[in-house]
Amino acid sequence: MIIAIDGHSSCGKSTIAKSLAKKLNFTYVDTGAMYRAVTLFCQQNKLINNGIIDEPALEKRIYEIDISFRINAETQQQDTYLNNVNVEKQIRSMEVAHDVSKVSQIALVRKFLLVKQQNYGKNANIVMDGRDIGTVVFPNAEYKFFVTASPEIRAQRRFDELMQKEGKADFNEILENLKQRDLIDSTRKESPLRQASDAILVDTSNMTREGQLEWILNKIQQ
Ligand code: DC
Repeated sequence: MIIAIDGHSSCGKSTIAKSLAKKLNFTYVDTGAMYRAVTLFCQQNKLINNGIIDEPALEKRIYEIDISFRINAETQQQDTYLNNVNVEKQIRSMEVAHDVSKVSQIALVRKFLLVKQQNYGKNANIVMDGRDIGTVVFPNAEYKFFVTASPEIRAQRRFDELMQKEGKADFNEILENLKQRDLIDSTRKESPLRQASDAILVDTSNMTREGQLEWILNKIQQ
């Protein structure tokens, strides 16, 4: 079974997807982490200069990118590995957040990751979250949810998360970054963010984490 969870940046979709996967004993796949890992690869290899991505160079080197997920024994959460290096912390940085929407607009990047994402669904029950899962990656998913919340609430949640992890964060920078990403993600040519016609809308603005999970589980069990 495939459960697709799409939605805006920082709307809580990965928290929902993770707890849903745990509850149902499904595999969780974070496709945003995959786009973030490709972005980090571009930054590490100087393929982004003055905000411009060197696409011909990226095309040549994209097959050097190996992305995997491994359970962290300490946190019991999945960590993202780029070429066998744990990059979980780096890919969540503001530096990566600044470039990730640009990298994820590139057709060759989307094509490269699409194959990997579809492979995850071949032999396993999965919960996959992202922007185009219900529309492009798995248009025939058994369940599709589209998650959203107001920009201010989303920025506050990201702010709290960064404060907890890093001890510092800038609310206005976060708010601007997520508004900018929403705009780029929903207006880009390649697989723009949009609600699939058969996706169920979940507005988490006034829902607790437990409430969100319960609400979705109810929909699945109906
Ligand atoms: O979910 P996230 O914030 O970690 O995603 C990071 C970026 O990756 C987001 O700005 C858009 C892009 N993305 C995408 O284009 N398609 C996906 N399926 C997942 C993420």
